[in-house]
Amino acid sequence: MVRSDAAGLLAAGPLSPDEMVYANGPALWLERPEAKVIQAKIRKHLDTGQAIPRAYLMKSIGLLLACNPATTATIESIAAGSMRVRGAAERLGGIWALSKRQRDFIRTWESESYREKLSRTTSQGSLQGRIAVVTGAGSGLGRGIAIGLARAGAMVAACDLDRPAAEETVSLIRQEMPGAAAAAITCNVTDETSVEQAYQTLLQRWGGLDILVNAAGVAPAYSLVNLPADKFRFALEVNLTGYFLMARAAARILMQQGMGGSIINLSSKSGLDASKNNTPYNATKAGEIHMARGWAMELGEYGIRVNSVCPGNVFEGSKIWNPEYIKVCAKKYGIKPEEVIPYYVNKTILKREIKRQDIADAVVFLCSDQARTITGQTLVADSGQVMVR
Ligand SMILES: NC(=O)c1ccc[n+]([C@@H]2O[C@H](COP(=O)([O-])OP(=O)(O)OC[C@H]3O[C@@H](n4cnc5c(N)ncnc54)[C@H](O)[C@@H]3O)[C@@H](O)[C@H]2O)c1
Repeated sequence: MVRSDAAGLLAAGPLSPDEMVYANGPALWLERPEAKVIQAKIRKHLDTGQAIPRAYLMKSIGLLLACNPATTATIESIAAGSMRVRGAAERLGGIWALSKRQRDFIRTWESESYREKLSRTTSQGSLQGRIAVVTGAGSGLGRGIAIGLARAGAMVAACDLDRPAAEETVSLIRQEMPGAAAAAITCNVTDETSVEQAYQTLLQRWGGLDILVNAAGVAPAYSLVNLPADKFRFALEVNLTGYFLMARAAARILMQQGMGGSIINLSSKSGLDASKNNTPYNATKAGEIHMARGWAMELGEYGIRVNSVCPGNVFEGSKIWNPEYIKVCAKKYGIKPEEVIPYYVNKTILKREIKRQDIADAVVFLCSDQARTITGQTLVADSGQVMVR
């Protein structure tokens, strides 16, 4: 907040029913992060029969929220919107806040209390209030996992190289769960600086981390003799270096917090059972599983669990399974492109197509307290195609 008159702008009462009902009035202006001063201001609110504000505007720092995670997005937009309106109103002749009569009416109006109650309703998910980072969240499995974690109550940072795609994931989450806290963060997982910046953005926004899901991956499919060296190196860079950089930065934060945490490497059944014409994928997906085992050994004493999930073929929303690649597969098996999905489904024991939510469920389970004794393990979610002995 750079305006020198911010304190004055916030002194006027609530401007709208939303600001009153959801944010408990305008943001409280704070000059310094001094506990005693903040306590005194809150005490004054309570003594005068006002509810404790849910938004705080601190000089040189910005907007801070003290609210139920499920209402973060709503309150953030109300508080920021109110500041913009206050600034504009000042230039246009002055702020016109709700009158006492209007405020009393809103306070006792049944439908407003009902709206507020609804906004506080949180899902009873197993990851309620946990802060999760998902890479590759702009497409396919990363997107499905981000949505699945939000359905389980987590606050989700959707990280992807492709910013518009990550934003689309966030808007899908918000459409389904209007009060959910979700944010798009641009991040190239192969770039150390980009990874550090992504976590900085996350920490500034939500102040912590509980879960990392490494899902940003590539699958350059070539036969051994036709595999260009740069494609091989590219897969190593995204699938191994990317997973490592994200996990290293996450582990440093989780260790400092001292509250445990969970890291998931999204590998593949190809990390256990090699698939044909897939050298870089086989190598990197096996590497991800083994990295997870090593990290589990290193991080266990901090209560940080590290596991891998190995999906079978998941076609839904995947760019890996693009129409061109489907054509290559059709040619390989001598079938039509539209027969490729049924062909792969038929290879599974359950004869059941694996959907994104199926994989999200496996990830949610491993991140939840129900999996509190599980670390260094590999959960295969592939409709029974690969049996690990
Ligand atoms: N789809 C499947 O059948 C399947 C099966 C098993 C495992 N997996 C694994 O799931 C993950 C996702 O696969 P998908 O099929 O959903 O792929 P996808 O291509 O649909 O999505 C990958 C996402 O990762 C992002 N990405 C790529 N490089 C990045 C980078 N350097 N930094 C940040 N983001 C980057 C892309 O922009 C994209 O949004 C991969 O790790 C893959 O190995 C997929």
